Amino acid sequence: MTQDDLKKLAAARALEFVRPGMRLGLGTGSTAKHFVDLLGARVAGGLGVICVSTSEVTEAQARALAIPMSTLDETPELDLTIDGADELDAELRLIKGGGAALLREKIVAAASARMIVIADDSKLVDTLGRFPLPIEVVPFGLEATRRAVLAAIASAGASGELVLRRKPDGSVLLTDGGHYILDAHLGVITRPEALSAALAVIPGVVEHGLFIGFATAAILASGTGLTVLGTLE
Ligand code: 5RP
Repeated sequence: MTQDDLKKLAAARALEFVRPGMRLGLGTGSTAKHFVDLLGARVAGGLGVICVSTSEVTEAQARALAIPMSTLDETPELDLTIDGADELDAELRLIKGGGAALLREKIVAAASARMIVIADDSKLVDTLGRFPLPIEVVPFGLEATRRAVLAAIASAGASGELVLRRKPDGSVLLTDGGHYILDAHLGVITRPEALSAALAVIPGVVEHGLFIGFATAAILASGTGLTVLGTLE
């Protein structure tokens, strides 16, 4: 099985927890894309749900599949969000934002009673940090914010390079919210809670990719089957 097959397997399992009438948050990324495709087929078959997306890309995909879409203004409380992750540990702490959607992903997750993470099992790590931590910042004052971010990282006992994320054509990547992303190459994050708290109070930081206390379960697919962390229902 390919890694993409595993992502689809995890997405299919998550679909079993969608009930008629649910208000759903739809994640972003290649794994969440499988979930939205599968959900679209169920909606075409008559399943009634209302959904909020975490990115313009997912919004377009869901609308093309005729999935009924709403916003957090119209539907501020969600029952369940299904989303991927770049990394997770056994305590369901996540790194997200590889697809640059971390801000909306965290807002949607926070509005959701439950969050099921879907991933292939390569995303499970003993210690977070191998995947560069995305930090969304406002363009104004970038250098001052960059220095404050480095100080916050040091205060949490970590260190590493900060890289401004660019598109393949070399231009600076802008998020859906019009912000930049600094990717922090830390290797290991031994104190994720401390790092999360230190980053959160920097004025130029809009959001960061540590999701702590959001995921209620994870469905991880491997060549030998599915593993569940946390509580699915
Ligand atoms: C997007 C994300 C994605 O969930 C994360 O990047 C995982 O993506 P994929 O399912 O393609 O591996 O956080 O901002």
